[in-house]
Amino acid sequence: MAAFIPPPLPSEDKRWKIVNGTMRKNGFARHALIETLHTVQSSFGYLDDDAIRFVAQSLRVPLSQAYGVVTFYHHFSLKPPGRHTLTVCAGTACYIKGADKLIAAAEERLGIAPGKTTADGEVSLMMARCVGACSRAPVALCDGEVHGEMTCRHLCEQLERWKAQ
Ligand code: FES
Repeated sequence: MAAFIPPPLPSEDKRWKIVNGTMRKNGFARHALIETLHTVQSSFGYLDDDAIRFVAQSLRVPLSQAYGVVTFYHHFSLKPPGRHTLTVCAGTACYIKGADKLIAAAEERLGIAPGKTTADGEVSLMMARCVGACSRAPVALCDGEVHGEMTCRHLCEQLERWKAQ
């Protein structure tokens, strides 16, 4: 049998690398389905058709099974998040460098908890485990773009920029 070659990442968005990392860590085994879908949910704030297809294809599970999981668990959302997504990395390296302060600042500024979207639909606040940029900790992803050595001030400035757009 020919070796299985996982499909290419859907886009350049760094968050796909995180999703891929979860699958790779599990050897692209089928039992990684729920964990991988969780990674998509926490990285992107929701799962769209492309994401579900990508995960199903990568793990070689029937698309219907992947959809079955997503619609069965209330934790998963098929609804798009806010116009912008702020993802704060809460992995060990980032945590040591003060990720908790970044999360607290974002929560206070946005008035929402991680995993939620502001009432006006502008910003979704997400948390990731490790985005693979530990040397630049603490890290936040602003619409998928990695920002290293993040400070509360920079984070608030980014939120202001989004507001002004
Ligand atoms: S722990 Fe944050 S990038 Fe690795």
